[in-house]
Amino acid sequence: MMSDTNEKKTASESNIVNLPSDTIINKRDMDKPLVLETRHLGIDFGGLTAVDEFNIGVGATEIMGLIGPNGAGKTTIFNLLTKVYQPTRGTILLCGKDTHGMTPAAVNEAGIARTFQNIRLFDKLTVEENVKIGLHNHINYSMMSGIFRLPSYWKEEKKAHEKALELLDIFGMADQADVQADSLPYGAQRRLEIVRALATEPKILLLDEPAAGMNPSETEELMENIRKIRDEFGIAVMLIEHDMKLVMGICETIAVLNFGRIIAKGTPVEIQNNPQVIEAYLGSKKDE
Ligand SMILES: Nc1ncnc2c1ncn2[C@@H]1O[C@H](COP(=O)(O)OP(=O)(O)OP(=O)(O)O)[C@@H](O)[C@H]1O
Ligand SMILES: [Mg+2]
Repeated sequence: MMSDTNEKKTASESNIVNLPSDTIINKRDMDKPLVLETRHLGIDFGGLTAVDEFNIGVGATEIMGLIGPNGAGKTTIFNLLTKVYQPTRGTILLCGKDTHGMTPAAVNEAGIARTFQNIRLFDKLTVEENVKIGLHNHINYSMMSGIFRLPSYWKEEKKAHEKALELLDIFGMADQADVQADSLPYGAQRRLEIVRALATEPKILLLDEPAAGMNPSETEELMENIRKIRDEFGIAVMLIEHDMKLVMGICETIAVLNFGRIIAKGTPVEIQNNPQVIEAYLGSKKDE
């Protein structure tokens, strides 16, 4: 309520605060709760403030980009969201629930899955086995039924096998199910990592430089697949990427990070025309 009188504020009015996220989300997600929200999030490493005042809100089915020069703090933010690091300050809300004190496994089970800047797969396991590791959140193997190979074990195993193939099929990889992970070409390993993350049934998928090392046609295909994943699974995607064609092509909103702080938030067009963003990028080029 706007008022220019000097009336004493009621108790409820004085309890109203402006949230720091100044969130922009897609109309499509307007009536749904935010999947992820951060407030005053930050972390220090000794004397270095790697991330500070990181405030965002992510819509339920939003594709959001997180960009910025090398060393800006992008991966550190993923490490905070997934509890690899505990924040020095601030709050992370997943579907409105504070994740404070959760372990990486708990936060994954609660709905955040990620891939890594440096691929992390079980090299000596097959493609299918790697996906099944992701599935274990939701498949009920009991130790006894596994040891004694009881009928319930085979039932669950069959379910896992079918689910793994179905997920691999998103990237047309079902026919490579029996291939050892480390014998896949680089681009396919990146795709497998995404499938494994999806197997945990996330509400939000965090991708750390998914197009790194991919050729232009692989990147093009990846863009289509990220959209497809968002549409078919109805989940949010947050991605870190240096490939501007990918970022500008599929992200609905973008946050730009520089020296650990957000310097701009907006649509791709707004970001491309933002003088501070242009300066941050040109500045980083000069330093290289
Ligand atoms: N565990 C850590 N201990 C100390 N410093 C760290 C740690 N992790 C990250 N940093 C520092 O935090 C800063 C941000 O690093 P981060 O890896 O998040 O950057 P980035 O934006 O992902 O960069 P790039 O685009 O090169 O991947 C860097 O200065 C980095 O050296
Ligand atoms: Mg990084």
